[in-house]
Amino acid sequence: MKRRNFILQTSTVLAGSAILPATAETLLNPAKKKRIAIVGLGVRATGMWGKSVLEKYGNEVEFVGLCDINEGRLRLMKSGMGVSCPTFTDFDKMMRDTKPEILMVMSVDNTHHEFIIKGMEMGADIITEKPLTTDETKCQAILEAEKRTGKNVRVTFNYRYSPHRVKIYELLRSNAIGKITSVDFHWYLDTNHGAEYFRRWHRLREKGGSLLVHKASHHFDLLNWWIDSDPEEVFAYGALEFYGKNNSFRHTHCRTCPHTKQCDFFWDITKSPAMMKLYVENEKYDGYLRDGCVWKEDIDIFDKMAVQIKYANKVQVSYSLTAYSPYEGYRISFNGTKGKLDAWIKERQPWEEEGFDEIQLTSNFGKREIFKISNTEGGHGGGDERMKQHIFLPNQTDPHRQAAGLRDGALAILTGIAARNSIDSGKPIKIADLTSIRPQVKKA
Ligand SMILES: NC(=O)c1ccc[n+]([C@@H]2O[C@H](COP(=O)([O-])OP(=O)(O)OC[C@H]3O[C@@H](n4cnc5c(N)ncnc54)[C@H](O)[C@@H]3O)[C@@H](O)[C@H]2O)c1
Repeated sequence: MKRRNFILQTSTVLAGSAILPATAETLLNPAKKKRIAIVGLGVRATGMWGKSVLEKYGNEVEFVGLCDINEGRLRLMKSGMGVSCPTFTDFDKMMRDTKPEILMVMSVDNTHHEFIIKGMEMGADIITEKPLTTDETKCQAILEAEKRTGKNVRVTFNYRYSPHRVKIYELLRSNAIGKITSVDFHWYLDTNHGAEYFRRWHRLREKGGSLLVHKASHHFDLLNWWIDSDPEEVFAYGALEFYGKNNSFRHTHCRTCPHTKQCDFFWDITKSPAMMKLYVENEKYDGYLRDGCVWKEDIDIFDKMAVQIKYANKVQVSYSLTAYSPYEGYRISFNGTKGKLDAWIKERQPWEEEGFDEIQLTSNFGKREIFKISNTEGGHGGGDERMKQHIFLPNQTDPHRQAAGLRDGALAILTGIAARNSIDSGKPIKIADLTSIRPQVKKA
């Protein structure tokens, strides 16, 4: 029986009963639904957390307030979600008036800390998009606020939920390669998706903390989760050698650019009705140009990065991120005392997809095994939908430790922040010198 039918049928049967299972009680008494407010109503909130949450989890949750500094996007989101809740451009007023139990933070990265801290102080638990925040000072302030208020923070690391990555987790935990000793992890963003970071607010270190924080926090979280230990020391190199100032021509944004014929990165936003509605029609409120030029001279993030990480359990990691590859995906190798686990994931490529991703497990002096995992699901390899279920359905268990709390969110960004500090200073950076978090050999 499908779960939704089960709830409907049991709720009818149980209507006269004194003891109700949580979901049935919720269904009969809408006031029991979790009351959620959202701050930041851009493409992530619209695509991942808005209407689709209500459609699937409307028995469990309701939206009580929406907030964005852009009043056009605010109106668009409200009508798109089909909700009747109030909207606000003033965050404090939303918190005071609506008193949500959960605040979802989906705004630009460098504003997360402000809403996470105030949200907890004003009585809400927090679900925040990654990255938790963009620097160590803000991170420490969030750690202190969680302690002070007794509220909690969950970080939405959807990458932990894709079946392929779960299979890697299971193999590593089952000791398939013995003790992990080192990891080679190389991530390639292509000239389509990779370039997107250089068009948008992400191009500024001040807004997104650089790709070492904005993007690689996903990857560092996967490493922490797979390795089951905390990063201890980081050394890195990084440079901007492709985008930004590295071209002979540039403009403010693609729509009005005189160089469209000679530019491989010309992107015609007017061909996308959804992007026009979400961003271009709302430029008048904040001046934000969604189709910004990838050659802008204000770009101050790196487009190639190489990071060495030493973990508290002695695992050594070599990680790299390149943002202008012809195809998108990653290659990872776990080296262990009994063998080696290899995976090569194609997230987007110009030639035909195979419909599955492989994991190759090779024993020292022994056999080789290949696992084929279907990759046909959308939404970050099926991770988005599985994570939403885990967050919104009651009575969820967590056998793979996929629910990421504040410490996980903090450690994922701290590797990137340490890498950034290391590139700036030319020195190795200790994670323990950044915040009050002390790296542990094994996760609790
Ligand atoms: N987990 C994932 O896979 C994933 C994917 C995409 C984005 N994200 C995260 O989601 C968040 C939003 O990203 P996006 O792609 O939707 O960006 P976006 O630019 O489309 O939207 C950001 C929104 O925040 C609003 N905003 C900015 N400053 C604000 C403030 N001070 N108060 C209220 N609203 C403010 C903007 O007006 C905009 O509507 C980011 O933190 C990003 O890292 C996560």
